[in-house]
Amino acid sequence: MKLINIALDGPAAAGKSTIAKRVAAQLSMIYVDTGAMYRAITYKYLQQNKTEDFSQLIDSSELSLTYDEEKGQRVILDNYDVTDFLRENNVTNNVSFVASKEAVRTFAVKKQQELAAQKGIVMDGRDIGTVVLPDADLKVYMIASVEERAMRRQKDNEQRGIDSNVEQLKQEIADRDNYDMTREISPLKKADDAITVDTTGKSIEKVTEEILSLVTEIK
Ligand code: C5P
Repeated sequence: MKLINIALDGPAAAGKSTIAKRVAAQLSMIYVDTGAMYRAITYKYLQQNKTEDFSQLIDSSELSLTYDEEKGQRVILDNYDVTDFLRENNVTNNVSFVASKEAVRTFAVKKQQELAAQKGIVMDGRDIGTVVLPDADLKVYMIASVEERAMRRQKDNEQRGIDSNVEQLKQEIADRDNYDMTREISPLKKADDAITVDTTGKSIEKVTEEILSLVTEIK
């Protein structure tokens, strides 16, 4: 098969990363989690006591992604592996604000485009089909009901030993989506040529199969 790029966008906790990882593994492609880049910059923003100088924040940051056979994508910020800190609540609750800043987006999008230049990438995020890879060979817009997304997030949290409450998660997910969809620069939206996949009530295997079958239809 020819080398392709797949863009996977959608709201928070719709199952994008779980599915993207599986699709990438099945097709021997590389999975790129772009949210992790915005989270890493947010981690540094918090370390710098919520600096308002986003240009300085970016100019002083060295960010790269590496791939570990076992652990998958790792995020290296200023020579330090920060991957394990990126899912903390404080990062999650500030990431949409940081990701709305122009300096941050310009920096992240450029890196993402460089990574995808050689093709063979499954990339998930919010603006992949619309801005980062407008020529992707397949664009999927993945959605699920907010109730189901909150339930899935709670299960994830349980497995990680983190206490959470479904109603609060529902609110946090809805707030983050609202912020991401209404920001001025590259808001979350479905690309005109993306295919919507609703994962509500579907198993991981079923959704993976659906996307693999869309790949076979690429001309
Ligand atoms: O995918 P994840 O939930 O880790 O993304 C965290 C946040 O990063 C999103 O809520 C959004 O604000 C931002 N993001 C973005 N563009 C992307 C990926 C993530 O703005 N391509």
